Amino acid sequence: MANKVALVTGAAAGIGAACSKRLARDGIAIGVLDLDAERCADTVAAIKAAGGEAIALGADISKRDQVKAAVQQLRDAFGPITIVVNNAGVTDFTPFEEVTEERWEFVYRINVLGQMIVTQEVLSDMKKAGWGRVVMISSSSAQTGAVNMAIYSSSKGAIVTLTRTLAQELGPLGITVNNIPPGSVMGTIMSEASRDKFQIPSEVLLQTLPVRRMGEPNDIANACAWLCHEDSGYVTGQTIGVNGGRVVS
Ligand SMILES: NC(=O)c1ccc[n+]([C@@H]2O[C@H](COP(=O)([O-])OP(=O)(O)OC[C@H]3O[C@@H](n4cnc5c(N)ncnc54)[C@H](O)[C@@H]3O)[C@@H](O)[C@H]2O)c1
Repeated sequence: MANKVALVTGAAAGIGAACSKRLARDGIAIGVLDLDAERCADTVAAIKAAGGEAIALGADISKRDQVKAAVQQLRDAFGPITIVVNNAGVTDFTPFEEVTEERWEFVYRINVLGQMIVTQEVLSDMKKAGWGRVVMISSSSAQTGAVNMAIYSSSKGAIVTLTRTLAQELGPLGITVNNIPPGSVMGTIMSEASRDKFQIPSEVLLQTLPVRRMGEPNDIANACAWLCHEDSGYVTGQTIGVNGGRVVS
């Protein structure tokens, strides 16, 4: 995978940071993107310390001009971008009756529109290369639904459907598109902030997981690395559950 360049969004921390570091281990140069570049310093430093290549990029993925500038910065640093991991996202725990248009639009602008903008902005490089990998991070709540998560789970459901559609549209161009719906991944900003919002105590939650442990960012990163690899070229349009068996299908 040497000489390939990947853009990973929401990569200052959590799952995005783990994906960045894991892809860098495969020799891929990484654009570590988050809301501001300074927050990406730790991820970039960890990659460089391990002998990899990375730069920090600041952009709000729901703002096209910011994404365009960040994509160009990455291209200028390392060359054409043929891998994108659409990981940045925000969660929401609003009971359905209290959902407002403003909150709905805020979450959808990041979780859906943002992933669309980022993917569009890197597409020209993938088309020229005749090769590309798009990995979206959705959520197991898109597969099961989740109480008080109407906005979030439906926004992630849109990502599952976007995956299926883009796989068909972009497959003939040599580009695969897949999504990973994580279950409960501990140790991220999102999961720490969500801890008290879950209605199921963690010891009970554990009993619903056949592997009997909570997820870690590296569990998602390892699956992401495979989906970005040459080896997965015959896999597209798929939802690859990495959830300890929480959802089986
Ligand atoms: N942690 C879990 O249990 C879990 C479960 C299912 C799905 N997910 C999904 O995995 C992804 C990563 O989650 P995480 O737990 O690592 O979350 P996190 O909150 O730790 O990290 C998300 C990152 O995205 C960044 N971000 C948010 N809005 C952004 C924007 N507009 N532009 C650029 N960056 C932005 C944040 O600054 C943050 O660094 C999310 O899409 C989330 O919905 C997480």
